[in-house]
Order: sequence, then C-alpha cells, then structure tokens
Amino acid sequence: MASHVIVETRERVTRIELNRPEKKNALSPEMYAAIAQALAAAEADAQVRAVLIHGQSGCFTSGNDVRDFLELPRGPGDSPAAGFLRAISTAKKPLVAAVGGPAIGVGTTMLLHCDLVYAAPNARLQMPFVPLGLLPEAASSLLLPAMAGYRRAAEMLLLGAPFGAEKALAAGIVTEIVPEAELLERARAAALALAAQPPASVRMTKELMKRSLAQAVQERMTEELRLFGERLQAPEAKEALRAFMEKRKPDFSKFS
Ligand code: COA
Repeated sequence: MASHVIVETRERVTRIELNRPEKKNALSPEMYAAIAQALAAAEADAQVRAVLIHGQSGCFTSGNDVRDFLELPRGPGDSPAAGFLRAISTAKKPLVAAVGGPAIGVGTTMLLHCDLVYAAPNARLQMPFVPLGLLPEAASSLLLPAMAGYRRAAEMLLLGAPFGAEKALAAGIVTEIVPEAELLERARAAALALAAQPPASVRMTKELMKRSLAQAVQERMTEELRLFGERLQAPEAKEALRAFMEKRKPDFSKFS
C-alpha cells in the first residue's frame, strides 16, 4: 500500500519513510516493492545525490511481516523482498539510515548495506532468524562477520537476541548514536552533506570500498534466499511463526 511507504525528494535527497505504525512498520510485499522502486528512481535521477531511510523515532521496522512468512512462501530470487535486497545492496548512491526503536530482522540487515547509520539510544536491533527457525538474509551471514568480527556476529545471529545502540556502535553497524529528538534531523543533515559533495567522487569511492565483496554479496544473497525459502517450509519455522502469531513461546523440544 503506497501510504505505508512515503517517498519524497527534496534538496537532492530522496527520503523513504516506513509508515505502517500499527504493525510496527512490518514490511509487506507492497512495501518492499515501493522501497525498491524508490531506490531505482533515485538511482536513475541525476538530481538525486543521497537516499535517507527512516521510520519514526520510536520504531524503524519490525522486519518482514511475520504473517506473510506463513502465508506467502518465498521463491528464490523473484519475490518483492528479494528485489528490495538486490536494490539496496547494489545502490550506487549513498544510503543513510535513521534508526530508533525496533529494527528487527531485515530492519537490522538492511543497515549493513547503508553507508551512514544514525541510531537513537532507544534503538533495539535484532536478527532473530535462528529463533524463528530461519537463517540470515541480505548477505548478513557474510557481511556481519566481516563488519563486526565472528565473535560478535555469532552471538547476534546464533542467539538472535535484541541489542542496543551502544552494542551496534561497537559492532560497526551504527555510525553514531544521537539523541532521539535529533535523530531524523542529524541523519538528514548527513544526507544533505553527502548531497553537497562532488557526486562522481562519492559514487566511485563507495564502489571502490564495496568492490572486494560486491560479487560475493550477490552470490551469498542468492544462496541465503534459496535456503531461507526451504527453511520457511520446515516444521521448526512453522512452529516459531505460529507461536509468534498466537503470542506464545515456541516449543522446539521435539525437533532433532
Ligand atoms: N509482522 C507482523 N505483525 C507484526 C510484526 C511483524 N514483523 N511486528 C509487530 N507486528 C504486529 C503485532 O502482531 C501487533 O499486532 P496486533 O496489534 O494486531 O496484535 C502490532 O504489530 C504491535 O506489535 P506488538 O508486538 O504488540 O508491539 P510491541 O511494542 O510489544 O513489540 C516488537 C514490538 C517489534 C518488538 C514485536 O512486535 C516483535 O518482536 N515483532 C516481531 C519481529 C520479528 O520477529 N520480525 C521478523 C524478523 S525475521
């Protein structure tokens, strides 16, 4: 639904706002498609120099809509979620994110593809793929160990527990922690500063910094999507996702 993603371009910055507060900005297929379209439009418009992604100061996103995990099994590669991941991971223009409140699942993994990430002290990141009987996506199984080191990545991905802005900063996922009241303003100021830089130098520098992992990121993402689709059909995930919808604790004791 268009109103769940607000897109606006002003002063050479495209702003993408996640706006589904009643579901904690859970991402539906339509929202993934709208964000991918906004990223493509920003890439194609020479007047756009940077993209800013944010939610509200109390909520970035609760990640993929859990109901859709149950009802819309993903195929590898051709789903709106996959299209979004391809768009965000191949963006040539700089991406800035402002994160307050929950940033769960793809809400955290998308940050690994952003260039500058500002977080409020209330930010609560989490990659609960394993607790949901799933596995990491967005090439996070590659990028997170590279960014944060294996020790931190193992804790974040294998236990899948929430962590705060300080830990995200120490892990290199976040650029800077800023007061909640200044979050959006600070992120927008950074996007405007990027927009004021010589654009070709910005694009080339980003490309050079990302080049050594670029192909591996796409390959890993494809592999993760294939395995993710398989895991969604597995009894472990069905139990975990039903438990979320039924607001109860999952029971994995019967699985080997
Ligand atoms: N998918 C679908 N619905 C979601 C959702 C998601 N990812 N996250 C939240 N919602 C819904 C809740 O079911 C609830 O709906 P209801 O009002 O119809 O009952 C509503 O959004 C508000 O969420 P609630 O859990 O009551 O808010 P909270 O402030 O107590 O907790 C979160 C917020 C984000 C911490 C919590 O909702 C959560 O953990 N969500 C699931 C995150 C997740 O596992 N995502 C998948 C990652 S792979």
